[in-house]
Amino acid sequence: MSVRVDGERLLRELAELAEFGRDPAGGLTRTSFSAADGQARAWYAAKCEEAGLEVRLDGLGNIVAGLPGGDDEPAVWSGSHLDTVPCGGAFDGALGAVAALECVRRLAETGRRSRRPVRAVVFSDEEGNYHHLLGSTAIRRGFSESELAAMTGRDGDRLVDALEGWAWARGSRTGTRVDPARVHAFVELHIEQGPRLEQHSVRIGVVTSIVGLGGGLVRFHGRADHAGTTPMDARGDALLAAARFIGAMPDLARSSGPASVITTGRVRVQPGGSNQVPELAEVSLDFRDPSRDRVAAMLEAIDRTAQEAAAAYGVTAEWDADEIVDPVPLDEGIREIIRARATDLGLSSTDIPSGAGHDSQNMALLAPTAMIFVPSRDGRSHVPVEYTTDEDAIAGADVLLATLAELADS
Ligand code: GLV
Ligand code: MN
Ligand code: MN
Repeated sequence: MSVRVDGERLLRELAELAEFGRDPAGGLTRTSFSAADGQARAWYAAKCEEAGLEVRLDGLGNIVAGLPGGDDEPAVWSGSHLDTVPCGGAFDGALGAVAALECVRRLAETGRRSRRPVRAVVFSDEEGNYHHLLGSTAIRRGFSESELAAMTGRDGDRLVDALEGWAWARGSRTGTRVDPARVHAFVELHIEQGPRLEQHSVRIGVVTSIVGLGGGLVRFHGRADHAGTTPMDARGDALLAAARFIGAMPDLARSSGPASVITTGRVRVQPGGSNQVPELAEVSLDFRDPSRDRVAAMLEAIDRTAQEAAAAYGVTAEWDADEIVDPVPLDEGIREIIRARATDLGLSSTDIPSGAGHDSQNMALLAPTAMIFVPSRDGRSHVPVEYTTDEDAIAGADVLLATLAELADS
């Protein structure tokens, strides 16, 4: 019988972690580099220390933890993220982060000697408060000072200010790139965040590929004026142009492809008085498709649509697009191991694509990478009701452990 995780400890730790960032408005708000994120990291580091694991931090707060030594062999990595979206749930990221810690600790407890070290990883700002998949992108390619200086969060605050005095980063912010030769493989356990596993009563999802991601901000610039004295046809109302633009997004997604999605999750209006014509309307964009070409085509179409909407209301539009995160296929060899280990554990499994973005997307460009999904109740995620059963959380962690153990000896 292969080694299994301590299921009770896994569940207890998930519950402990869910105490950090409780939001009176519901769910968890543990956005990156916030006080709550700091508390979660302190908790995580204490757990590592208790288990005798050495915690290493980089200049953007990525954490790599493992037994000391073993640096002469490329390591097997597993992990996820501790940050959440505003009013998010207790499983997205948390399950994979806690399970990776549990796996590294279980392997250490059993005294199992493997060819390669296994390390638990926490990536910074996966949810992209400052930059989508910030930490894993920093590990894959690094950021320049000027790129970091330009990053602002959803509250308009600057990343470099948030990092000032932040206890959970160490060393150079631009020297975060990891040599691919250091990583043998990466495996991430995550909740599905969609309905398919639950609908088909399947316990384990073997992720085939991760969707391509685009994002950015469209800013409509008009002219602020008095709401009572400015005639309707003498206005340059930036928000009206934004409204027309947002209304065009569903058709833009539909005409792109059957799996294309576009979300405008945030609008910022200035000056923001109810009796002032809006001068600025800034709209956030999140658009996705399994094909990079379609993501690139949506990026272009968003620009055209913004210009048309701006022209219709006599304002201007500026499209500040993020770098596209490429869709990636995941490693067939590790997928095979996951399927086999799930079968050993008596768990049904199926291939499944990921419509959510994950740090695995960056890790796949560094090392052979795979993901394990477990069911999400009603397919809900990024909301307070996000939920995965105890049995599924433990099953996913057991499959992860067996997969990591095999990779550590391969
Ligand atoms: C991460 O959760 C994402 O898909 O944006
Ligand atoms: Mn996640
Ligand atoms: Mn998420």
